[in-house]
Order: sequence, then structure tokens, then C-alpha cells
Amino acid sequence: MKKHRFSASLLLGIFLAIFFPNPVQAAETCATLLTGRCETCHYLTRVCEKVAQKKGKWSWKRTVKNMVRQGAKLNSAEQDRLVVCLSEPAPEVKTLCNQSK
Ligand code: HEC
Repeated sequence: MKKHRFSASLLLGIFLAIFFPNPVQAAETCATLLTGRCETCHYLTRVCEKVAQKKGKWSWKRTVKNMVRQGAKLNSAEQDRLVVCLSEPAPEVKTLCNQSK
């Protein structure tokens, strides 16, 4: 009986893995990247303070690289994407920052 229950949960696990893949692989927007990858270490207010200073691409590039060195999980495409998100800044970033104030 115990063995039976174990295999049922194993099957459920496989089912979940197939139908709900890691959200990291799903298409990320500026907003999901910020809330999913940046907020793990500090509040977005930290990010939004810098957004408010209207820093350019190069400054953000340095910051994002620095965050990756700190341990932020971002591949190079995601890093480039975020640099654009943050330096423009994208409308969703502005919305997020206004909400977190
Ligand atoms: C692994 C932890 C971690 C993650 C994830 C992380 N940060 Fe940071 N962040 C830090 C630490 C630690 C500091 C303070 C030390 C420093 O300034 O280098 C910091 C400081 C900052 C600062 C203020 C200093 C500066 O360089 O302007 C900004 C802006 C910032 N983070 C943005 C981000 C963004 C954007 C992301 C998402 C891509 C992010 N952080 C993800 C750890 C993290």
C-alpha cells in the first residue's frame, strides 16, 4: 500500500514537470525579470531609486553585471534585455516602481 502511494506521487511529479515547466524557461517580460530575479536579494526600491536617476545603458550594464557577480540568475540575453528595460525605462518598469513606493 505504501509503495503504491509513493509511485502515485512520483507520477504526479512527472506530470507537473511536463505540464508546468520551470518558469525560467517561459518568456520573461521586464516586469517578471525584475520581480523574479532582482527581488530575491533586495526590494525593488533599490532598483527604482536608480531608475529615477535616469541612468543610461552603460551604467545599467555595469549594475546588472555587478548583480550577476553577486549571484543574480540571468543569462546573457536576459541581462541585455534588462539593461534595455531599465535604461529606457520600459512602461512596465515605471508601473512596478510606482506600485512599490
Ligand atoms: C544575489 C543577490 C542580488 C540579486 C539577485 C540582485 N542584487 Fe542588486 N544588489 C545586491 C547587493 C548585495 C547590493 C549592494 C552592494 C552593491 O552595491 O554592489 C545590490 C545593490 C543594487 C543596486 C544599487 C547599487 C548600484 O549598483 O546602483 C541596484 C541598482 C541593484 N542592486 C539592482 C539590481 C537589479 C536590477 C537586479 C536584478 C537584475 C538585482 N539588483 C539583483 C544583491 C543582489
